[in-house]
Amino acid sequence: MVTTDNPQALSQDFDLKAYLQNQQAIVEAALDQAILVTEPPKIYEAMRYSLLAGGKRLRPILCLATCELLGGTGAMALPTACALEMIHTMSLIHDDLPAMDNDDYRRGKLTNHKVYGEDIAILAGDALLAYAFEFIADRTENVPPAQVLQVIARLGRAVGAAGLVGGQVVDLESEGKTDITVEELSFIHTHKTGALLEVCVTSGAILAGAAAADLDRLTRYAQNIGLAFQIIDDILDITATQEELGKTAGKDLQAEKATYPKLLGLEGSRQRADQLVGEAIAQLEPYGSAAMPLVAIAQFITARKN
Ligand code: IPE
Ligand code: IPE
Ligand code: MG
Ligand code: MG
Ligand code: MG
Repeated sequence: MVTTDNPQALSQDFDLKAYLQNQQAIVEAALDQAILVTEPPKIYEAMRYSLLAGGKRLRPILCLATCELLGGTGAMALPTACALEMIHTMSLIHDDLPAMDNDDYRRGKLTNHKVYGEDIAILAGDALLAYAFEFIADRTENVPPAQVLQVIARLGRAVGAAGLVGGQVVDLESEGKTDITVEELSFIHTHKTGALLEVCVTSGAILAGAAAADLDRLTRYAQNIGLAFQIIDDILDITATQEELGKTAGKDLQAEKATYPKLLGLEGSRQRADQLVGEAIAQLEPYGSAAMPLVAIAQFITARKN
């Protein structure tokens, strides 16, 4: 029985599985429509191969959920939600390249370069990245242009050298090093993974016309789940199987990556992730039951098996 406005308690009555399935179906249909095969077919097929290969669709769902929390509609945020998944997919295609993490499997299938070759995989990533921005600018409806512009600017920052790319650079530089500090590791994770997750939430908020106080609160929520998300990814690389992950397990140890389990151990890493998720959920208190989707998504990040 729910006897309090505490968001953590309220979320126990929330059917996350049904919510995620419903939102995933909306995102899948929109992504399938977003890119149609035309000339030259090879590049469109390569883009669709990775974009439509499944995946949890957590980034678009975060964007939709945040927009709806603040009184916007899902329709207002759907083009941005799709763009976030295009950019995320680009980052996976490039992350898997031989020059980076050199992975053969992703989302339960062969990686993009294994099927289409490295040349086309690089170009498929480039094309997804560029199209994501075009898609937001062209398809967003019923949102004041100044807000759309702000979303585009923030997204550019999140994915560039100040965000995802910067984090990936330090991630690669840190391979094989044994003297990485928790501060350096936190920089890697908050940039390579956290920056994009943060803009999933803030873009949804901005599209809904968020007040500054809401934007601040939701930014803190997003930063906490962003770091927790990559800590759990590091843990799963050790504890889960390839079948569960849809990608090769045990890669971080093999590549001598800087990871949380390496620095804090498995148990210490789990505790840190739980603490971050608790801090994220605490930010949602003023929204009461309206924030149930965001509370449940935060809990899902640490409970997930892939
Ligand atoms: C994998 O992201 C890459 C990281 C940032 C850790 P996800 O775990 O969200 O992958 P998909 O989208 O579900 O395949
Ligand atoms: C993911 O880090 C970062 C990006 C894709 C931007 P990982 O390299 O740990 O992701 P996985 O484990 O390959 O999915
Ligand atoms: Mg990587
Ligand atoms: Mg990788
Ligand atoms: Mg990983």
